Amino acid sequence: MAKKTDKRQKIYIFDTTLRDAEQCPGASMTSQEKLNVAQQLARLGVDIIEAGFPYSSPGDFEAVQTIVKKVKGPTITGLARCRPEDIDRTAEALQGSKRVRLHTFIGTSPTHREGILRKSKKEVLEMAVSSVARACRLVKEVEFSPMDATRTEFDYLCQVVEKTIEAGAAVINIPDTVGYALPWEFGDLIRRLRESVPNIDKAILSVHCHDDLGLATANSLAAVANGATQVECTINGLGERAGNAALEEIVVAIDTRPELKRKFVIGLNLKELYRTSRLVREVTGMPVQPNKAIVGANAFAHSSGIHVDGVLKQRETFEIIRPQKIGLEQSQIVLTSRSGRHAVKHRLAELGYQLSAGELEKTYQRFLAVADQRKQVTDEELESLVADELRLAQEIYQLDYLNVVSGGTTIPTATVRLRRDGDLLQAVTNGVGSVDAVYRAIAQIINVQHRLVDYNVSSVTGGTDALGEVMVRISDRAGTIHTGRGSSMDIIDASAKAYLQALNKMVLRAGVAARTKSKRRRTQSKAKQ
Ligand code: KIV
Ligand code: ZN
Repeated sequence: MAKKTDKRQKIYIFDTTLRDAEQCPGASMTSQEKLNVAQQLARLGVDIIEAGFPYSSPGDFEAVQTIVKKVKGPTITGLARCRPEDIDRTAEALQGSKRVRLHTFIGTSPTHREGILRKSKKEVLEMAVSSVARACRLVKEVEFSPMDATRTEFDYLCQVVEKTIEAGAAVINIPDTVGYALPWEFGDLIRRLRESVPNIDKAILSVHCHDDLGLATANSLAAVANGATQVECTINGLGERAGNAALEEIVVAIDTRPELKRKFVIGLNLKELYRTSRLVREVTGMPVQPNKAIVGANAFAHSSGIHVDGVLKQRETFEIIRPQKIGLEQSQIVLTSRSGRHAVKHRLAELGYQLSAGELEKTYQRFLAVADQRKQVTDEELESLVADELRLAQEIYQLDYLNVVSGGTTIPTATVRLRRDGDLLQAVTNGVGSVDAVYRAIAQIINVQHRLVDYNVSSVTGGTDALGEVMVRISDRAGTIHTGRGSSMDIIDASAKAYLQALNKMVLRAGVAARTKSKRRRTQSKAKQ
């Protein structure tokens, strides 16, 4: 029997959580966290992962290199400005795999040409063309973005697109950089580009929409309806300013509406969506608003009497998406203090965590401590524990002892002992409250200049015996934000862990930066000899 071929148009999903989202204030991630997110994006099945901007920092370079070598499946891309040094460094970071793409961009609108680049139309065009040509000599696949395309003169935009395709760009991405476009206008722009650029069919036409007017998803879908075949987006819609188009919204919209599903195909494993959203929330420390479409805590919660009654009688009355579709299903296995290591390992594997024997043992011990006090441990709690555990490996300072005296007229006093390379370091301090006392003690021991920017407490599940989760954000002298997250049955303990994690990241990154500087100095002095 002849094989049935799928005639639907493939829509490529290009995830830029590790680049566009990572560059937004407070969402920075360590190299290990970026690798964890990239591996989860591969499980989700995205087609392309933009892993970073290698020229921007040694940390980004290293992260892109690691992801290229370790993540199998999606094409990995790195971003570069239209400058020879950016392109060469990005090509270097992308070495080690055949599935790589170099993404280069330059501002083409009058605002960008005159305000930032101070270059004429001709000069910008030349920079774009020569950069694409240079990138094509170094990397097999090249994508080009005329930044601020929606505010670029149409004829000039057509010229830039045509010439960069001629120079070898395999993908042309049209960014609505400032989130200014309206859906019908943006759809029209994509259609007109397809009609006006003679060699447009030689490239994949992509879009990259920002959410300044709350229209990023609508604009991306309008573009798809008018012939765009790649969509750039991020998990939870994170990104510069108001963010990018949310990946989960785009793919679930295409999957939910029959008229879209009949025409387009996306090869994603939607059941991994919720888990991916949670992982990104955890590593970036950027909360997801409860009413966020698809992945918000209330996205599937029905509360008013009429709605609950309707859903119970017939689900479709008020529910257009089944929560199971995005991986939000209740575990069939109930984990209690009697569940052995094997059951915990099995459930963790189902949740997508492949732990080493050591990590599993430590997670199991933490699971037992929680399970001893609660009837059962939910998937969310288990994921929270494992997220904590996976990070302990990177801890420079570890919490060895914590005691707080407070209540009534007592001045809150904290005794904190940390371990670093086998040494025990202790401080005893007062504070205006218990958390303040603990934070002062930790800060006194670690003694690095920083500022606490944000402190957020929530419970992973309901009830007074729930696992509490604390997210903190601290800023270093240069203004870089470092995030920390901690969970525990005790909120003071969770607070200490979160703060310690943020400080550990800050110290770790300062160490990497110092090592990179001295390595560069050594290389330079060798070169002079
Ligand atoms: O928003 C934008 O224009 C970008 C480009 C680098 C694609 O992020
Ligand atoms: Zn962007």
